[in-house]
Amino acid sequence: MPDFPAGFRWGVSTSAYQIEGATTVDGRGPSIWDTFAREPGRIVDGSTGDEACDHYHRHAEDTALLAGLGVSAYRFSVAWPRVQPTGAGPAHAAGLDFYDRLVDGLLAAGVDPVATLFHWDLPQALEDAGGWLNRDTAARFAEYADLTAARLGDRVKLWITLNEPFIHMSLGHGIGTHAPGRMLLFDAFPVAHHQLLGHGLAVAALRARTASPVAIANNYSPVRQVGDTDADRAAAQAYDALHNRLFTDPLLGRGYPDAPGLDPAVIHDGDLDVLAAPIDVLGVNYYNPTGIRAPEEGSPLPFEMVPLDGYPRTAFDWPVAPDGLRELLLQLHDRYGDALPPIQVTESGCAYDDVPDAQGRVDDPERIAYLDGHVRAVHEAITAGVPVTGYFVWSLLDNWEWAEGFTKRFGLVHVDYPTQRRTPKSSYAWFRDLVRR
Ligand code: BGC
Repeated sequence: MPDFPAGFRWGVSTSAYQIEGATTVDGRGPSIWDTFAREPGRIVDGSTGDEACDHYHRHAEDTALLAGLGVSAYRFSVAWPRVQPTGAGPAHAAGLDFYDRLVDGLLAAGVDPVATLFHWDLPQALEDAGGWLNRDTAARFAEYADLTAARLGDRVKLWITLNEPFIHMSLGHGIGTHAPGRMLLFDAFPVAHHQLLGHGLAVAALRARTASPVAIANNYSPVRQVGDTDADRAAAQAYDALHNRLFTDPLLGRGYPDAPGLDPAVIHDGDLDVLAAPIDVLGVNYYNPTGIRAPEEGSPLPFEMVPLDGYPRTAFDWPVAPDGLRELLLQLHDRYGDALPPIQVTESGCAYDDVPDAQGRVDDPERIAYLDGHVRAVHEAITAGVPVTGYFVWSLLDNWEWAEGFTKRFGLVHVDYPTQRRTPKSSYAWFRDLVRR
């Protein structure tokens, strides 16, 4: 493995609802995922995040795993329904106490706390008032950011406003496979705009409370055009605008791209200035490229997704394409030039069906190969001049993978859910050795 620049940030990521459990402890309010997971047929194995990895009670053990890994940073998310159980009103001290303990434990272990404010677990009370379709949710989000930073702003080293607003819009509100389960297709555009508005307002709130850098974590997927007709080209462009540009162009001062569903009536005067509040870091979450061709006649979508041949595949059936990460980083650099802040890869990882052997060891050579390829891709992008300053593996622990429940394992550490026993996989040792070097 080639050398990385001094000060390069190596980390791992998790999110609140996927690991914490304790969903009714210490006054946490319900979130849209508590509701959604209880609806029949939503989650493949019928599970919920009620217990997940019980990280709420086992955070000290998990912090020790981080220390053993030697990472310089840990990206977790704060559960809004712990801080404001009904999405409004003063901070709920008992909820923030948990993050206080976590952050202090991380600092004592020499690990920089990186906090994401919204990783999809909206307080149910806000959903009942329209959720992200309601413009007011953006203001509520800034208020929550302010309350959280008032408590943790002196210790968190990097703030991330939103996690993957594209996925929350498309899966949560476009096709309804994630909470809150709405199927609005392109009428989901207000969810994009209101999340971005909330991001911009939250950046201002964070700046008033902390000198730490502020970021957003976007999901990106380089588009591989399948077919060579003008219609295929138009389809690829439409998908690229929706997935890769809708949540980035306006942040970097370019206004919205010409993306399907864009509704100018939702955008008020002055909003674009709020969205474009400078950020210090662009978080990039990358899993795989997307194959796109022209849709069949009569399709409700202006593109069709097609599986990409010729790649190994993860347990999620996603193609393993490290070259896509290099391509993406170079594309962001070309596209935004000087307007692009330094990038940190805030998620990169893969699911495999990891099973302990007779001795209880978990060997996951595919994950090692996956990470090795993606880390090298980052190095190649840095060598080509792209300012990348960090790389976070998704995820520290096997965890509750949204609509897939407990059926997909992404961790460097295996979790036996009935006993909550943690077993570092061979990829944990591999990553530890990489970080040490
Ligand atoms: C999300 C994670 C999720 C991962 C794997 C990302 O889109 O931020 O919460 O577990 O992908 O699906």
